[in-house]
Amino acid sequence: MGTCRAGFNSARALPEAIATVKAPHASQPFDTRDRVTSFRFQPSRPLTGHIRVPGDKSISHRSLMFGALALGRSRISGLLEGEDVLATAAALRAMGATIERDGDDWLVDGVGVGGLLQPSAALDMGNSGTSTRLLMGLVASHAITAVFTGDASLSRRPMNRVIDPISLMGARFEPSPGGTLPLLLEGIEPAVPVTYRLPVASAQVKSAVLLAGLNTPGVTTVIEPVPTRDHTERMLRGFGARIEVGKEDGERVIRVHGRSDLKPCDVIVPGDPSSAAFFVVAALLVPGSDLVIENVGLNPTRAGLIEVLRAMGGNIKELDQREVGGEPVADLRVRHSVLTGISVDPALAPSMIDEFPVLFVAAAMAEGRTVTSGLEELRVKESDRLAAMAAALTGAGAQIEEREDGLVIDGTGGAPLRGSANSRTKTHLDHRIAMAMAVAGLASSNGVEVDDTAPIATSFPNFMTLIEEACT
Ligand code: S3P
Repeated sequence: MGTCRAGFNSARALPEAIATVKAPHASQPFDTRDRVTSFRFQPSRPLTGHIRVPGDKSISHRSLMFGALALGRSRISGLLEGEDVLATAAALRAMGATIERDGDDWLVDGVGVGGLLQPSAALDMGNSGTSTRLLMGLVASHAITAVFTGDASLSRRPMNRVIDPISLMGARFEPSPGGTLPLLLEGIEPAVPVTYRLPVASAQVKSAVLLAGLNTPGVTTVIEPVPTRDHTERMLRGFGARIEVGKEDGERVIRVHGRSDLKPCDVIVPGDPSSAAFFVVAALLVPGSDLVIENVGLNPTRAGLIEVLRAMGGNIKELDQREVGGEPVADLRVRHSVLTGISVDPALAPSMIDEFPVLFVAAAMAEGRTVTSGLEELRVKESDRLAAMAAALTGAGAQIEEREDGLVIDGTGGAPLRGSANSRTKTHLDHRIAMAMAVAGLASSNGVEVDDTAPIATSFPNFMTLIEEACT
């Protein structure tokens, strides 16, 4: 098991510790302020042909983390090479794992469960909530003190949801006011196993506790009243962890037995359904479109958008359904469709939590009214996505009512959106606002200006190239 090599004096105050660990970086790759690029997305020709979206972000993060904890070498194919995932890779390297590209694949030489080392500088999480929350869990049960920093968007996001359960396991935190980054975490070894019932439906919180449990003696239990994406459970099983998933009194219960070795794995990462979502909606909205998106992950805990779009009348077919890397996958054939507004069941929210920005765009061009509710979580994503999308779509000419927990949208009935020529989408460092409004632009009559496309690189580095490919 790991030992604390060098390190911070835990008695030191947070600002001093941060100043110490902020060793000069060669570059600040995640600071988007100096590479703001605005872009006007113009009305598009039909989307046609075959495209492939990059690897799933959630699975990519986890494949690196579990590879880093396994004893031996894991090979990852189809890893998403977005900034968020690269932030995870950099942090794991800083704690002792060896991670390098090998042709189109990535190789990870792990340090073994409990083998992470003290990082010598702050862990820069960029824009990535998933990197931050899952790595907080990993670090918590090691004798490591780490400082987590992030960009302006990430530094506003709530971390108490992870701090609370992880503190129960014995780790100590010094967050910035409001439970935010920058944050100092002093891990503990051995940590105390807990049984934790999730107060918010969050796969990140669930995963943080389970990952802390990997190096904790005994059994760590997470109770999930509302199921969320289950990649952590599926993949931990693949890496040989002792993990049990069951249902008790209608709730999902996940138990991980700590301190058992992980074995290295060959992981194949399927295409990200959250990235495919932008092309699915663009093809539904732009007349004449007939597009095949290959190799899309369709894990039922992620596929809510497809269900909702079909209920709105979307013509989406799953071709060649298969299993890739333990996940259901298919090619999606999407044809232009006239959509009808619906009331979206709030119970579907966790299975499409990242897809609401682009669903709002689809609703803005549907016939009739779409009502969404139960979406308070959207206010604490990379931006406040309810406020950001209400403002952006209103600027693009849509009829939107913003409520505390959702948007009510009166659609155009299939007519293209027509905003005022000088309105400009504010993306607030949020990749999904930028991409959703790019789709709105493709389906508009006079284009949509997005103020900053740089954040797109966090999850979908070749988005602009694929748009060109699909639209020509
Ligand atoms: C993710 C979980 C979701 C999602 C995020 C990725 C994950 O966040 O929004 O993009 O990989 O576990 P929450 O756990 O906050 O719902």
